[in-house]
Amino acid sequence: MRVVAYAVRDDEIPLFDKWGKHYNIEVTIAKENLNENNIQMASGFDSIIFLAEDTMNKNVLDKIKSMNINYIVSRSVGVDNVDFAHANKLGIKVANIPGYSPNSVSEYALLSTLALLRKYNLYIKRVQMQDFRIKGLIAKEIRNQVIGVVGAGRIGSLTVQHFAGFFPKKIFVFDNFQKDELKKYAEYVSMDEIYKECDVIIYHVPLIEETKYLICKKNIDKMKNGVFIINVSRGKVMNTADVIDALKSGKIGGAAIDVYENELPYFRFDKRETFIEDDMLRELLSLPNVIVTPHAAFYTDEAASNMVSVSLKNAREFYDTGNCSNIING
Ligand code: COI
Repeated sequence: MRVVAYAVRDDEIPLFDKWGKHYNIEVTIAKENLNENNIQMASGFDSIIFLAEDTMNKNVLDKIKSMNINYIVSRSVGVDNVDFAHANKLGIKVANIPGYSPNSVSEYALLSTLALLRKYNLYIKRVQMQDFRIKGLIAKEIRNQVIGVVGAGRIGSLTVQHFAGFFPKKIFVFDNFQKDELKKYAEYVSMDEIYKECDVIIYHVPLIEETKYLICKKNIDKMKNGVFIINVSRGKVMNTADVIDALKSGKIGGAAIDVYENELPYFRFDKRETFIEDDMLRELLSLPNVIVTPHAAFYTDEAASNMVSVSLKNAREFYDTGNCSNIING
């Protein structure tokens, strides 16, 4: 069996080698992101392994179908890049890796919150300039905060449990599906209560129609003054222009943003010698109460290994059985 894997980082190559042998799959590596121009190289392969950052639109899916490939595997959790209506129409089955390491993102949410509350980014900047003053950087403690977690799937549930160990005033959680086991750490509430009560709001939601621009002026207006926002989900969950306005007015006290709605031309690339033409990104980078990281929350050794091994396992399952335990549109 032969698969082609797109958007492969250098650190993934030995993993594809190891797990390819394990599942008896010949893997061809493409370092580039999958797009309309390079999908043709998948011709002759049994399946395609791709990432959330790749293009999986109508045109790409049509080309995949024309190459007689009927199973594709994302090695991401989020699959908002896939046009599922079209994949279903073509009969292309899609699998993902729903739990490659919820800890990777959840621990990052904790890190981001602590960094914002402790102004850690500002200390690092000062010390790099040999400025050892603490003046102006007085911080907040988690025990005095009400923490809100929006989305309590695998990742959000862990975030609730991680925060419980820091003994905040309260943890409120919003999710349409309630889990009894979380109720010993947190109280399920409505979104309006999250807005009204929480000092820190952490977003762990997939990008779907209902969550697009969930963080927008209308909802920000309902939040507490000086609220801290942590977005480790998807860039489009946040209306960046509205968030920038609220950061400038002080309505939002700080934001840790690991994802950005127009991140693709920037995140993953070395832009040190380049003028950032994207006005909103430039503005975010200039605000002292904003921490921007390049969609890195997932990036741990555990996650990287599981993303590769499970994607190959999924491809093998599809090939052998025509189905997959991680199928999304089965
Ligand atoms: C996901 O798995 O959904 C991610 O966001 C990480 C991926 C883009 C590498």
